[in-house]
Amino acid sequence: MPIIAPSLLSANFLNLAQDCALLNESQADWFHLDVMDGRFVPNISFGLPVISHIRTATNKICDVHLMIEEPENYAVAFKEAGADILTVHIEACKHLHRNIQQIKSLGMKAGVAVNPHTPVHLLQDIIQDLDLVCLMSVNPGFGGQHFIPQTLEKIRTLKQLIIAKNSHCLIEIDGGVTLENAPSILAAGADVLVAGNTVFKSKDPIATIAALKSL
Ligand code: DX5
Ligand code: ZN
Repeated sequence: MPIIAPSLLSANFLNLAQDCALLNESQADWFHLDVMDGRFVPNISFGLPVISHIRTATNKICDVHLMIEEPENYAVAFKEAGADILTVHIEACKHLHRNIQQIKSLGMKAGVAVNPHTPVHLLQDIIQDLDLVCLMSVNPGFGGQHFIPQTLEKIRTLKQLIIAKNSHCLIEIDGGVTLENAPSILAAGADVLVAGNTVFKSKDPIATIAALKSL
């Protein structure tokens, strides 16, 4: 069964409490929280105060996806805000190994996100240290974009690397996941499905999450 991580980027920001309650009631496993700084990506979303409040509204795992420059300057703050998993972009880290050790030493699970143009073989010397690889299946910055089909091949390549290196790392797919493409994403080897628009723009988000979970 896949891990389902709805992205609150597509939630109703005027009533986050209601959408948190909805996810709590659903079969969602994780809360996927997208932090954008207007520098690493051409958009600004939400940050520490919002995540601290979401933390008080759920006992589910808070999966924080940092689309920010110099994430090492904020790891302590995101730990204090309640992140369980902290994911940084490979493209934003000069010293990725150091950043991953920092996240783990703070007691969080460590993830690395990979943009669509970045080859997964760049992870070969760090994969054993990772708990999660977030493969971007859209260019990060916005919800509601279309899934980039080459991602399927990247999932298969990454899965082989994980097996070859005997890593326990999970593969998370982020961007453009729908009920239609999710079966092929899972067949390629993904473990975690992020879904923003597919969940929050559907008529019945709880049923949509259940449908994703049952794939
Ligand atoms: C994109 C974010 C995603 C996004 C997914 O930059 O990292 O998590 O919210 O939204 P959908 O599922 O609508 O593509
Ligand atoms: Zn994300």
